Amino acid sequence: MPATKTDWAALEERYYMRTFKRLPVVFERGEGCYLYDDEGKPYLDLVSGIAVNIVGHAHPRVVEAIAQQAARLMHTSSLYYSEPQLQLAEWLIERSPADRIFFANSGAEANEGAIKLARKHGRTYRNGAYEVITVGGSFHGRTLATLAATAQPKYHEPFLPMPDGFKYVAFNDIEAMRAAVSDKTAAIMLECIQGESGVHPHTAEYLQAVRRLCDEQGLLLICDEIQCGLGRTGAFYGFQQFGIEPDVITLAKGLAGGLPIGAFLAKERCAVLTPGDHGSTMGGNPVCCAAAVATMHCLEEEHLIENAASTGEALIAELRNLKETVPGIAEVRGLGLMVAFDTTEDVAFELVSEGLRRGVVVNATGPCTIRLVPPLILNEGQVEKGVGMIADSLKAVSGP
Ligand SMILES: Cc1ncc(COP(=O)(O)O)c(C=O)c1O
Repeated sequence: MPATKTDWAALEERYYMRTFKRLPVVFERGEGCYLYDDEGKPYLDLVSGIAVNIVGHAHPRVVEAIAQQAARLMHTSSLYYSEPQLQLAEWLIERSPADRIFFANSGAEANEGAIKLARKHGRTYRNGAYEVITVGGSFHGRTLATLAATAQPKYHEPFLPMPDGFKYVAFNDIEAMRAAVSDKTAAIMLECIQGESGVHPHTAEYLQAVRRLCDEQGLLLICDEIQCGLGRTGAFYGFQQFGIEPDVITLAKGLAGGLPIGAFLAKERCAVLTPGDHGSTMGGNPVCCAAAVATMHCLEEEHLIENAASTGEALIAELRNLKETVPGIAEVRGLGLMVAFDTTEDVAFELVSEGLRRGVVVNATGPCTIRLVPPLILNEGQVEKGVGMIADSLKAVSGP
């Protein structure tokens, strides 16, 4: 190791808030489905910054759009019209069941906006109803309201009391959902396929029954598409796989291909926010929106949604095949390129480290669950290579 090499781990230990357990690797650059560390070692990236780099790393079209917009105009605020913002708004709304959009900077902010919209809708049209029902195992963000919406008590505990107005029900249980609805309920918010809990899809029957319940009771259905949207499952929106249409959609993660952005979209009849209700200094920043327009064009023109469907099928098939040939895999599940497998022993964190040693990036959502959310440009050769490295890593971390 050269004497002058910076000790990044020591700098983190000295200066950074103790919020992250980092893995011992410094990625310096990326290209396509590959990341390269500070010694030039390549890694096949099956995580894509947690479902963010949907068109791969350093896609020339996205890089060019960012460079051009940054040189022209980086920021103006929400006081004025913004060309890239309106181009992105048009692109997204024309391909969505929604009619209006608002841009934020992150997933949590997108969900905050959707919750505010649901509260105002409940106040206006449902006698002051304000409660949002969410589902056990969900993840909706780290701000106080979205943390409260996240139905996982372990995340609440250090920050109690949580903001009021959220109610939790068991996963995929329509009777529990029906029983939870009251005259205080304004909305139901869910991920059609839960991501952070380890890729757990709801059933189509359940989601369709939730849709009917919302219609009967005058509730808004908010689909958090932050992880399962934007082509990942083999459809532009995850909900399209289940035959439902939400009233409100939230997006973030991959929308700008790697720059920070979030959005919530709503049908006209529930787009109740008016001047003064909501805002964001940076939300819909011109550079992020220009990156997003380029990312969306790549998604469409390079047929990446179709690729996510076919390559995802190959990935799931290879993993199921591995389950038959290598001991240590309990279950494989997912849709498109949103995939997870459970291990029979608590080896997921070790498997992540072993994968890094062997040159493949995978993610553990818990002690026995590995999640794979690669760039949507992944090809079948890379699937074979990645699953090979996962197999070798699994053999290395499993007992004899
Ligand atoms: C489904 C879902 N919603 C919301 C969020 C929060 O997004 P962000 O980290 O951009 O605030 C995440 C992040 O993992 C997510 O997976």
